[in-house]
Amino acid sequence: MQPWTLLGVLSLLIAVPDALAVKSHDFKTCSQAGFCRRGRALSARAADAKSAWKSPYSLDASSIAITPNKAVFTAGVKSTLYPDIKFGLELRVHEDGVVRVRMDEVDGLRKRYDEAAAWALIAEPRISQDIAWTAGKKDIRAKYGNNEVVVAFEPLKITLLRGGKEQVVLNGQGLLHMEHFRAKAVAETKTEEADPAPEQGAEDAEEQVVMEVKEPNPRAWFEGDSEDDWWEERFSTWTDTKPKGPESLSIDISFPSHGTIYGIPQHATRLALPTTAGDAPTFTDPYRLYNADVFEYLASSPMSLYGSIPVLHAHSADSTVGIFHAMGSETWIDVAHASNKSTQTHWISESGILDLFLMPGPTPADIFAQYAGLTGTPVLPPHWSLGYHQCRWNYISSDDVRTVQKRFDEEDMPVDVFWLDIEYAEDHKYFMWDQKNFPDPVDMTNDVAALGRKMVVIVDPHLKRTDNYPAFKEASDRKVLVKPPSGEGEYEGWCWSGSSSWIDFFDPNSWDWWMSLFKTTASKTGWTWTSSTTDIHIWNDMNEPSVFNGPEISMPRDNIHYGGWEHRDVHNINGMLFSNLTSKAVQHRTDQPTRPFVLTRSFFAGSQRFGAMWTGDNLGTWEHMAVGIQMVLANGIAGMSFAGSDVGGFFGNPEPEMLVRWYQVGIFNPFLRAHAHIDTKRREPFLLEQPYKGMVKDILRLRYTMLPVWYTAFRETSVTGVPVLRPHYVMFPKDPKGFDLDDQYFIGASGLLVKPITTKGATETTVYLPEDEVYYDYFTHHAHRGAAKGKEISVQAALHQIPLFVRGGSIVPTRERPRRSSPLMKQDPFTLRVALNTKGSAKGEVYLDDGVSYKHEEGQFVWRAFTAEAVGKKSVRLSSTDLAAGRPGEAVDGVALTGYKAANGFAESVRDVRVEKVVVLGLSGKPASVKVEGGGELVWEYTAGVAAGGKGEGAASVLTIKDPKVRIVEGWAIVIQL
Ligand code: NOJ
Repeated sequence: MQPWTLLGVLSLLIAVPDALAVKSHDFKTCSQAGFCRRGRALSARAADAKSAWKSPYSLDASSIAITPNKAVFTAGVKSTLYPDIKFGLELRVHEDGVVRVRMDEVDGLRKRYDEAAAWALIAEPRISQDIAWTAGKKDIRAKYGNNEVVVAFEPLKITLLRGGKEQVVLNGQGLLHMEHFRAKAVAETKTEEADPAPEQGAEDAEEQVVMEVKEPNPRAWFEGDSEDDWWEERFSTWTDTKPKGPESLSIDISFPSHGTIYGIPQHATRLALPTTAGDAPTFTDPYRLYNADVFEYLASSPMSLYGSIPVLHAHSADSTVGIFHAMGSETWIDVAHASNKSTQTHWISESGILDLFLMPGPTPADIFAQYAGLTGTPVLPPHWSLGYHQCRWNYISSDDVRTVQKRFDEEDMPVDVFWLDIEYAEDHKYFMWDQKNFPDPVDMTNDVAALGRKMVVIVDPHLKRTDNYPAFKEASDRKVLVKPPSGEGEYEGWCWSGSSSWIDFFDPNSWDWWMSLFKTTASKTGWTWTSSTTDIHIWNDMNEPSVFNGPEISMPRDNIHYGGWEHRDVHNINGMLFSNLTSKAVQHRTDQPTRPFVLTRSFFAGSQRFGAMWTGDNLGTWEHMAVGIQMVLANGIAGMSFAGSDVGGFFGNPEPEMLVRWYQVGIFNPFLRAHAHIDTKRREPFLLEQPYKGMVKDILRLRYTMLPVWYTAFRETSVTGVPVLRPHYVMFPKDPKGFDLDDQYFIGASGLLVKPITTKGATETTVYLPEDEVYYDYFTHHAHRGAAKGKEISVQAALHQIPLFVRGGSIVPTRERPRRSSPLMKQDPFTLRVALNTKGSAKGEVYLDDGVSYKHEEGQFVWRAFTAEAVGKKSVRLSSTDLAAGRPGEAVDGVALTGYKAANGFAESVRDVRVEKVVVLGLSGKPASVKVEGGGELVWEYTAGVAAGGKGEGAASVLTIKDPKVRIVEGWAIVIQL
């Protein structure tokens, strides 16, 4: 081991410095990335030239070819700067109204990477057959529904309109620039002893000397006057050889009718994206998408983080439109507001074709459907994975795991999953147990599984380069490892395991083999993980990929992947392939596939189909606690609903108050996991002193009572794409007062509104109520009344209090028996909280299935609607109906219900599960009687209070019906006679 690499690894392992701060010098700013610098300079020249600026790109009308069915058109595009270079443009409109715009260089010296969409999309989208492109003198256009796409010829400009109003404009500012491939101008070639950077391991280099261009450059007004980092680029001690030369892509995308934009995760920023350009921008650098392992990242920054989803929503009270750019290379995005009603963005990518999807909306729900139509919906995860996950770096032995489990049980704290970080693996060779500390991995896992619990074990992508490690040896033998820039041999870099190599998951030859490793039974054809069980699921970390001695802590961009593509072309997709394949591996370990759980740190568009993500190495600060919520919301609107941030903060030792608040945040994240750095003090919740310990126990129990709400929300997300956590603009798209809100949000369609507290010493807070409706405090049943134009209310928020409300009009199903793990709740009875709205009605639903298999796809589930309606003035009827029955073959929320029978196997397995309590909030008066329809009087209690139908605020009237003896799987009605 070379001393400098050892030091590098050690410095990451040793104690966290007192002042936590990102090592910004490890990562490029825009001005340090040649193509971003060039892209921004282009936009600066355009701004200086004002109206004199004209895009050199135009569509060659004579080349327009429209397919016989008129649904697709292609045309040549030219740049006045390079008349000999040819570009091709193609537009098509999908059946759901999404417009796909592709542009590529044609017959160039080389080929641009064009496979990003193939990795992200679920299928080739179906093209609308109802579209007819018509070409005129100045443009070619297609009208469909209320929408119209217009492609102006000169300069090239593409506009999506709705009702005649511009929604999305491409190249309206003239910043489109596809740098074509060119030959490097060479004056002479001489051979010299080079002085390679040691970590590059470069051999003597043949150096080419670039000829100086003396005559005036007529293209300088557009491209600038120098070959700025065209052929080689240095950063810190690294040199990127850039054998393909300049190939960046710049395009401006404007939203003339939209003042707020959201998305392009992952960044530690507000949900409504602050500006990076124009007057007084919040950030001076553009938002960067370049998957990176950013140590101690900032709580407010446009810097890149671990995952990238090039998806953006542009929103106004009238409409929402969206953009998805299928782009795998590094991309920077500038955001500016021309006025408070319009937004301009500028996308600058290092390589790849233009492959833009314009999603016409017009509502956020439509955008979610359109994006899901392209890249798929989020996975319906195993039910247990919505419980509490206990992690730390590291539980040091199998006995340590058993002791931690015992302590949870002694304190009656619920937990579903225990995690093992990298130290379980001998020499960080993943899969290979450290025999000394984990001599009995199967027994340990079985001990955990005895109470229905699971284990999650880490498998990182860096494979230690040693022949006694089957994962490396077999990958090397199969020649499926990423190659160095020469394209020969195996790329070697440093990570936890020392000298390591990485599997090239772009190579299909790696797929079946990788999946075979996770089998728990022996195989004659290769190594399998026989020392594991099917109760072990997987954590994929460091898959950006993180390379300790690489440029920007990652892989050199000139490394070579399958098909000869450079790493720069696929960097942002790379991490997704690792976790997708791992997810498939876990799914197919058994003959009957079971639902996998795989947590990934790196992700891309499409990752939502495979598993969960978390926000990486957050700091134990209040700022990080707050931004974690914003990041989870942003990931959700880009598809990654199954998201969470490390409870407690990865770095640091949170004081008890902070830890309690962090658990309050965590239980309202879709993914709930406590995790901590190896240097932190132990902080499992049972270690807290009272009253904090009791508080955290109550918080965890609250999460478990709400598992029916979470699972029902996940079902909906898994078929519609509407995120589990719903920010205000998603719920109330027409209310501008909610557009900036990102510290309170709704959970699915349940009607639950939460505002977790993320400030020290808080005793109260304000909550925004967006409508003239009753919102009931979940715990006290206090009825708050909103206003048609929105209203802020003040509520108590001492440490034991969580601002959590039920929106009038909702019925919330919970299971309130404390249990030690979620599988133990299978036969537990339900409580229904019926929160009447101002009209005296309410509705809700619950979805249940076995939580682990795919039998729900064959109709094995229970899906009930609950409805409360006023019948005349004198009674309220509360009923349960089957949401799937009576409609065989019909699709509900996109799910074909073929095969569903009310008496299916799963429903039979929970046939005795009762509703044990019904709480009705906001009745107008004391009931005269409460009966099951066709049955006798029930046992009930009534406390007088504020009625939902009045204008009053204060303690709501509460009717509690005890054990109505109705079952969850059957239809029933309860009649409340007033
Ligand atoms: C980095 C991850 O972000 C962190 O969660 C993990 O504990 C360490 N790697 C060690 O595996």
